[in-house]
Amino acid sequence: MEIKTYTLNNGKEIPSLGLGTFRVSPDDCEKTVCAALNGGYRLIDTANVYMNERAVGRGIKNSGVSRDEIFLASKIWCTEYKYKKAAAAIDATLSRLGTDHLDLLMLHQPFGRVDEAWQAAEEGVKAGKIRMLGVSNFDEDDLEKLLSYCTVKPVLDQVECHPYCQRRTLNAYLKAHGILLESWYPLGSGNAGLFGEEKIKILAKKYQKTPAQIILRWHIEEGYLPIPGTKNSAHAAENADIFDFSFTEEELASVRSLDREERFFKMKKGIQRYMVFFQRMNYEKQN
Ligand SMILES: NC(=O)c1ccc[n+]([C@@H]2O[C@H](COP(=O)([O-])OP(=O)(O)OC[C@H]3O[C@@H](n4cnc5c(N)ncnc54)[C@H](OP(=O)(O)O)[C@@H]3O)[C@@H](O)[C@H]2O)c1
Repeated sequence: MEIKTYTLNNGKEIPSLGLGTFRVSPDDCEKTVCAALNGGYRLIDTANVYMNERAVGRGIKNSGVSRDEIFLASKIWCTEYKYKKAAAAIDATLSRLGTDHLDLLMLHQPFGRVDEAWQAAEEGVKAGKIRMLGVSNFDEDDLEKLLSYCTVKPVLDQVECHPYCQRRTLNAYLKAHGILLESWYPLGSGNAGLFGEEKIKILAKKYQKTPAQIILRWHIEEGYLPIPGTKNSAHAAENADIFDFSFTEEELASVRSLDREERFFKMKKGIQRYMVFFQRMNYEKQN
């Protein structure tokens, strides 16, 4: 199974599918990262706040896959955005992952001192600690501000995106600026209603694929980059087996018709809860 790549606005390549690690315990994470890399995945997505960066690092090491072949992405959280804290957070994330460079560093949220965090991140790029920069959960206004002063342009924006929430307006903006849309919750967080949609089931039957594979194929056909999360190595293998078929225009339109701009993650409430939680968090305690 070979995962195709996208070309980014800096001319570099990124795999068109990655492995997500949110809400995956360190033990499961270590195993799944290792199995996924051995099964052909090359993009791994983590974050300081997932509390599993050390496990990701161990999974990479155990896989035996050369670090040069892997596209490793992590994110710093908004409580660390002041310049000095952001610079320290970048070094800490490298240390926990057991690597001397990140392929992609994202700012996890568009809140707080984004300007200072971006400055620290750009310096990380100059110092060779980070190959490229991205953002997450940024909307058009957040990006307008960032694009007005950045000297290193973000290559992608990682946002909630799935057939119930297709982000068409945001994607039109991103496309116009050469920024790739990376989909989090690409499977709607495993939503049973989405998996059971008649339109998805019809395609699954026709192509002899599972609903998860049909949904992930839809992301690829839209030019999105899905990073399905799993603690199950068999699911990781299944999720990557989506490059041997493609939809007709009518089939693509039938999945598009499921859009209802419904976000499963209620950002405002969720962030307020997480801000307090993460402010108290000691990332160094993660295992
Ligand atoms: N930037 C952000 O703010 C943000 C927020 C959320 C997530 N993310 C990133 O995006 C990634 C993806 O999001 P997510 O993991 O939360 O949601 P998701 O990928 O939409 O769904 C994950 C859920 O789907 C299930 N699943 C995975 N493959 C399956 C398959 N083939 N068949 C049936 N069920 C399957 C998983 O269960 P099993 O474990 O049992 O397979 C899990 O419950 C995260 O892991 C993280 O890296 C970023």
